[in-house]
Amino acid sequence: MKIFLQADKIKRFLKQIGMRKSYFFMAMCLSLLAAFFEGVTAAVLIQFVKGIISRDFSFVKELPVFNMIFSEHSYTSNAQNTTFFLMLLGTIFISMVFKNILSYLSELAISYQAGKVADGLRRMVFQRYLSFGKMFFDHTYIGRLNNILMHYIGMIIIKLKTANSIFTQVFMLAVYIIIMFVISWKVTIFVLFFFPILNKMLNLLIYRIRKTSESYITSYDMLSHNISNILSCISLVRLYSNEDGEKKHFAYLSSQLRKLEFSLDKKSGLIKPLQEIILLLAILFLVFVMSFMSIKEKSVEIASFMVYFFLLRRAQSNFGVFNNIKVSIAETKGLMNEVMDVFEDKDKFFIPDGGETFDQLEHSIEFNHLSFSYEKGRQILKDINFCIEKGKMTAIVGPTGSGKTTIISLLLRFYDAPPKSILINGKDIRDFSVKSLMTHFGYVSQDTLLFNDTIRENITYGLKRIIREEEIISILKKARLYDFVLSLPKGLDTRIGDRGIKLSGGEKQRVSIARALLKKCEVLILDEATSSLDSKTKKLIQEAIDEAVKTRTSIVIAHRLSTIKHADKIVVIENGKLIEEGTLSELLDKKNKFYTYWEEQKFS
Ligand SMILES: Nc1ncnc2c1ncn2[C@@H]1O[C@H](COP(=O)(O)OP(=O)(O)OP(=O)(O)O)[C@@H](O)[C@H]1O
Ligand SMILES: [Mg+2]
Repeated sequence: MKIFLQADKIKRFLKQIGMRKSYFFMAMCLSLLAAFFEGVTAAVLIQFVKGIISRDFSFVKELPVFNMIFSEHSYTSNAQNTTFFLMLLGTIFISMVFKNILSYLSELAISYQAGKVADGLRRMVFQRYLSFGKMFFDHTYIGRLNNILMHYIGMIIIKLKTANSIFTQVFMLAVYIIIMFVISWKVTIFVLFFFPILNKMLNLLIYRIRKTSESYITSYDMLSHNISNILSCISLVRLYSNEDGEKKHFAYLSSQLRKLEFSLDKKSGLIKPLQEIILLLAILFLVFVMSFMSIKEKSVEIASFMVYFFLLRRAQSNFGVFNNIKVSIAETKGLMNEVMDVFEDKDKFFIPDGGETFDQLEHSIEFNHLSFSYEKGRQILKDINFCIEKGKMTAIVGPTGSGKTTIISLLLRFYDAPPKSILINGKDIRDFSVKSLMTHFGYVSQDTLLFNDTIRENITYGLKRIIREEEIISILKKARLYDFVLSLPKGLDTRIGDRGIKLSGGEKQRVSIARALLKKCEVLILDEATSSLDSKTKKLIQEAIDEAVKTRTSIVIAHRLSTIKHADKIVVIENGKLIEEGTLSELLDKKNKFYTYWEEQKFS
């Protein structure tokens, strides 16, 4: 029952991804036709064997279809026998050829549809990934998402392709059983009696496979997580000379996977031999029964008797078809669950998208009693109230971990802020569509947000308009990056490695600034990276920032004194609370917390 429920879920899921039934229907029709020709082959084979045994093929002219061909001709006995012999042989050959062509076409139909499903599924999963809130990505690891998208979907598609052979097998089995019934219904009923016994024996094994398959997925994920984790922090491994430790840990995870893989193979591998043994026993018993019947009752002809075993032997592999379906479903269950989980809305932390289009910042961005926590039980922001005015530069300062970046992440809709806690032009930020908001915001993040691609691709990323070379050069100059790019042999087309690994901290920051400048956004947000820079780089970055904030509304999270000198307003955050706010001179006059920071010359 559970299996059928699972199958139902899969069916619904396939429908959801837009699988067209027509291809399956076509494949089914082709399989049905192929089965028909298989039946023709078997039926003619019986006559063929009968003729060989009796050395007389004259009965052929009485047979259906053949009687129409031979009614008008008369042959001499010898010529007749040879012609009939050749006719039967030819019919067997032709119907076998037809059967195989039809099976091939049916396979093609399925393969085409499976390819389309794979493509559709990959697109849908990727699209889903892009729609999840940032919180979802904070809670998972990229290796797992990659596995789902590439590996699991691929495996599911392979299973889908085998669905075709399952159709064929079911139809063939039906044809075999019909012919076997015609030959001897008594014996066939006896044969069919073995299905439930075989099923019962295999069910237990299937249950075990399903359990192993789930643990296999977990183990596979752990291994792939380990690979990406370690390889992305290779310097740390070197620094702590922990190669041996990592090798050991990897070997442990890898051998766990191997053991589960072997256990899975061991169990699924048992199914075939078990089937074989049980069927062989059945056949031996049948040989005994049929020999007895043919001698005693003369009810079964020798020819039919021979063909019966031929069919039984051919049907043997098809008898397991229903179990094969179960095994296939059992094996894919773990994979399907992972893929289908992507389509469940639970824990995806979607960001509600408002219906209103954001046109421009009219007067201000207001934080209104903003409180926020990433996880239950640990409040990060506590009742924050302040205003960012249009055209002004607002600086946010405060100790590390005080919640500065969190404020920006909420403003940029990476996380969902409580209703009415962030207002733009007096309206709740949640009322605006995220897309329209984002076209007006530029962001230089504290962490490196760089693709493993060229500098050009990185700074022009996502821009829909045509960007002329002169514009890029002018931006590079503004971001104080021009001389650096000129010094590179490949200039703008230099690849910068994973997360910009081939660039220095200062260069990475300036590439990010150049990207934000090229976006020509209305509100620019700069979250200064804390990495300590030499005085020359500091100066370059300062110049780039000054240039960037010149003519627009800007929010700058500053760690350096020089950055906030020109700010129109400074907001001081400590431990998630706003503790002071004002212009530089106002804050210095107050001689409060900010004054202490100022005296210490640090803001984080
Ligand atoms: N994605 C997250 N999930 C859970 N907790 C988080 C997450 N991001 C940040 N935090 C926590 O929220 C607190 C505030 O972090 P935030 O990054 O806003 O600090 P910050 O003021 O920007 O610090 P810094 O000056 O070091 O950049 C920190 O204690 C941090 O541990
Ligand atoms: Mg920060």
